[in-house]
Amino acid sequence: MKKILVLTGGGDCPGLNAVIRGIAKAARTNGNWEVWGSIEAFNGILKDGPEIIKLTRRYTAGIHVKGGTIIKTTNRGNPLEFPTPQPDGSIKLVNRTDELISKIKAQNFDAVINIGGDGSQAISQALFEKGLNIIGVPKTIDNDLSATDLTFGFSTAVQTATESLDRLVSTAESHHRTLIMEVMGRDAGWIALHTAIAGGAEICLIPEIPFKIESVLKRINSRYKKGRGFVNIVIAEGAKPIDGEVMGEKSKDAGDPHIKLAGIANYLRSQLEKRGCQAQIRTTVLGHTQRGGTPIAFDRILATSMGVKAFEMVEAGAFGKMVAYKNNKMASVFIKKAISEYNVVSQDHYLLNTARQLGISFGE
Ligand code: F6P
Repeated sequence: MKKILVLTGGGDCPGLNAVIRGIAKAARTNGNWEVWGSIEAFNGILKDGPEIIKLTRRYTAGIHVKGGTIIKTTNRGNPLEFPTPQPDGSIKLVNRTDELISKIKAQNFDAVINIGGDGSQAISQALFEKGLNIIGVPKTIDNDLSATDLTFGFSTAVQTATESLDRLVSTAESHHRTLIMEVMGRDAGWIALHTAIAGGAEICLIPEIPFKIESVLKRINSRYKKGRGFVNIVIAEGAKPIDGEVMGEKSKDAGDPHIKLAGIANYLRSQLEKRGCQAQIRTTVLGHTQRGGTPIAFDRILATSMGVKAFEMVEAGAFGKMVAYKNNKMASVFIKKAISEYNVVSQDHYLLNTARQLGISFGE
């Protein structure tokens, strides 16, 4: 029997378990492969006395409906910069890739499937360049990977955000309030844009279009001019005012390079109030509710198909490549190419036009 090692890295995302099950089932159908999972990304295999489990039917049956990942994940396990405590109590980032590859080989793994976002796929590329047989599967609710038309988890996040907006609209209407809802997406406005259109927001603020607070205020005032109005604003966590910066702080976790984006909804509220906005304003930050829970049917299907495709790529020896969903087909792209370009909302994207035709303001 040949052996595949599967791992999930970075933030969790609806559909991770469906990918794992897709890989395990395709391997079972094939009959010549065993599938193993490394617990908490590469940390499982790096541990002395590795924490790896054989993904038998007992572990994978029915997991496609479950949120999270049965093999756990971490954003503190980059083998290129592994956070390692020093005798003086400080943390040093150590390159453990050689050790990792020899441990994978010592366990007789023939291939590795790394399910993760851009950071995880940059690790895949580095390991591939060192000779590891590795395949990537793209994961992120942010939908910010350019090589694939969609990532699984994104549609579920949009569904969750839209359902939340629907609930907030009730309060906005009943109280004549202005409600600001902050959604995830990092530097991409996809979740905000889709949610604003699906939920019928009046204002949508995204990282790709820096906003003017005065323009937002003007739009709010115009909604209240004719008497009792209400306004729903969807704001992406990475949105910023035209003369300001993104709101967030550096992660406190050693080995996590990301800025933790947060606070723009409350900042906008305080700026509007400072400028004399008469409407009662309330803010809601959806946060990790967008990443949790069961994936919607579309994401289960996308994630399962990506898992099956990843297994087929292992069989075909298509290493150094990542699964992609392109033009309604399962495809593969070089990981190097996949991580070279970021997918943000382009100024000529049709959804910007759709939104503008609906009268949604981007605070320009
Ligand atoms: O990349 C996915 C994502 O959920 C972003 O939308 C968000 O900025 C970030 O991860 C949050 O990360 P963490 O769970 O580490 O706070």
